[in-house]
Amino acid sequence: MAKIDAEIAAVVRYIFSFAVGIGLIYYFRRYIISFIKSQKLRLFAWTLNRFMTKINKILRKEKETVFRHLDSLCEKLGHPLTVLEVGSGPATNFDYYPRRTEIVCLEPNPYFKSYIEQNAHKHKNISLSRVVQGFAERMDYLEDSSFDAVVCTLVMCSVRDPRQALDEVKRVLKPGGIFIFVEHVAAREGSFVNKIQKMMNPVWKTLCDGCNLTRNTAKYIQNAGFSDVNIVNFQLQWGFRLLTLFIRPSIYGYAIKGTRI
Ligand SMILES: C[S@@+](CC[C@H](N)C(=O)[O-])C[C@H]1O[C@@H](n2cnc3c(N)ncnc32)[C@H](O)[C@@H]1O
Ligand SMILES: *[C@@H]1O[C@H](CO)[C@@H](O)[C@H](O)[C@H]1NC(C)=O
Ligand SMILES: *[C@@H]1O[C@H](CO)[C@@H](O)[C@H](O)[C@H]1NC(C)=O
Repeated sequence: MAKIDAEIAAVVRYIFSFAVGIGLIYYFRRYIISFIKSQKLRLFAWTLNRFMTKINKILRKEKETVFRHLDSLCEKLGHPLTVLEVGSGPATNFDYYPRRTEIVCLEPNPYFKSYIEQNAHKHKNISLSRVVQGFAERMDYLEDSSFDAVVCTLVMCSVRDPRQALDEVKRVLKPGGIFIFVEHVAAREGSFVNKIQKMMNPVWKTLCDGCNLTRNTAKYIQNAGFSDVNIVNFQLQWGFRLLTLFIRPSIYGYAIKGTRI
C-alpha cells in the first residue's frame, strides 16, 4: 500500500509541476513571444549581414552604374549630398557613395544598427548622420523635400505596400532629386520562372522576412509619378543556376522627381 501511495504522490507531484509550468508559460506568454520575435530579428540581421556582403560583390557592376548618378548630381550641385538609404540592412552600399555624402539609414530591424555603425566606422570618406528605426511606408518623421537622393537596394520586394513606400520616397526627395534602385523582381507573367516564383512565394515569404518573389517593382516605379524613369532589366548571376532561377530576374535604374538638375 505504502508503495502505491508513494507512486500516486509522485504522479500528483508530476501533474502539479506540469500545471505550474504551463501556468507560468501562459502568464509570461507576452514576454516569451516578444523574446522569440526579437531573436528572430536578431537572427535575420546576423544572416543577412553575411548574405548581403556576398550579394553585394555579385551586384558590384550594377551598383556602380546606378551610384554614378550620385557622383554626377554631386558635381552639378557642388556640395556633398544628403541621402536617405531605405532598408539599408547592414549598409553594404557605403562603398559606393561619393565622398562626404551625409547618409540617413532607415531600417525597421533594430539589430542592424551595430552593423551599420561598424560599416560607417570603416568608411571615413562618408558620414552617417543617423540610423532611424522605421518603415518605408511611413516616414513622417522625415521632412518633405529634404534629401538630394534616396537609395533602395533589394528592399522593394519586402515592403508591405510598395505604392505607399514610393509615395514616401518621392515626398522626402527634393525637387530634381534622384531615386536609385537595384531590385530583384517578378519574371515575365506566364514564363516558366514566373510559375516557379508563384509556387515558392508563400514559403519564401515566411522564411525571408516578407520578401515577395512575384512583385513587379518596375511597374510600381513607373506609376509612382516620377518625371523621368529609366529601368534596365538584368539577371542576377549567383549560386547554382537551376536553384537560383527564381531570384535572378532583376532591375536597376533611376527615377527623378520633377525637373532634372
Ligand atoms: C534583402 S535586405 C537588403 C539590405 C540592403 N539594402 C542591401 O542591399 O544590402 C532587405 C532589407 O529591407 C528591410 N525592410 C523590410 N521591410 C521594410 C520596410 N517596410 N521598410 C523599410 N525597410 C524594410 C529589411 O529589414 C532588410 O534590411
Ligand atoms: C570610401 O572608402 C571605402 C573604404 O575605405 C572605399 O571602399 C570606397 O571606394 C571609398 N569611396 C570613395 C568615393 O573614395
Ligand atoms: C506579391 O506582390 C504582388 C504585387 O505587389 C501582389 O499582387 C501579391 O499578392 C504579393 N504576394 C504575396 C504572397 O504577398
